Amino acid sequence: MSQAAARVIARQVLSKPDSVLGLPTGETPIGMYETLVHMYDQGLIDFSRIVTFNLDEYYTLSPDHPNRYHRYMYEKLFMHVNVPEGNIHIPDGGVQDGEAECRRYDEELVRYGRINLQVLGIGTNGHIGFNEPGTAWGLTTHVSDLSPETREWEARSFAEDEPVPRRAITMGIKTIMNAEQIMLLASGEEKAKAVAAALFGPITPQVPASVLQLHPQLTVALDKAAEEKFP
Ligand code: F6R
Repeated sequence: MSQAAARVIARQVLSKPDSVLGLPTGETPIGMYETLVHMYDQGLIDFSRIVTFNLDEYYTLSPDHPNRYHRYMYEKLFMHVNVPEGNIHIPDGGVQDGEAECRRYDEELVRYGRINLQVLGIGTNGHIGFNEPGTAWGLTTHVSDLSPETREWEARSFAEDEPVPRRAITMGIKTIMNAEQIMLLASGEEKAKAVAAALFGPITPQVPASVLQLHPQLTVALDKAAEEKFP
């Protein structure tokens, strides 16, 4: 899955060196980022004109918190490749005024037109970004309340006595669906039900990822375990 996903990104970067990429965090894309760093080290890809927009960030977490997605992105990718600092966009989850940060993020995105390739993971409840079940599909970047299921899943990466954030700043479904191409990644049996519901079930806001059935350019990269529940 990671290699297939990295190849899709590499092809995008080669064919359009100034591409705008939408990027996820989480466990799923770790191998994809490792593969991209490896390709970069071998001189196969050049990120010097690439622009990136991250999907989401916890709101709020202190700037030095190890779980910030900001830190994840630098550790997994940006510290190792040549994306120019000024081309990197990640929502600021440390601000007082979350709504203002969402508007700023949307305006920044509009400056670049549209995302060429949006990469997504999927939650066990079918969320994409942090668009939880029931979220309106017309939203752009917004502050979302994390569902109990999502908070339980996210708790894996927080210390036992530490509260998991209740909210996040996330691109909305409208932002995601506006991307020219979308690639959905999923690995592991815990995701099998959500992947099957997203790709083969009814198209409904109760399964946010099911909206992807409406996208004309969707690539799905899965491991075997994640496709276990396919009809
Ligand atoms: C992260 C994001 C989330 C994750 C999803 C799966 O930026 O947008 O939707 O993709 O929660 O997370 P993992 O990969 O940790 O299972």
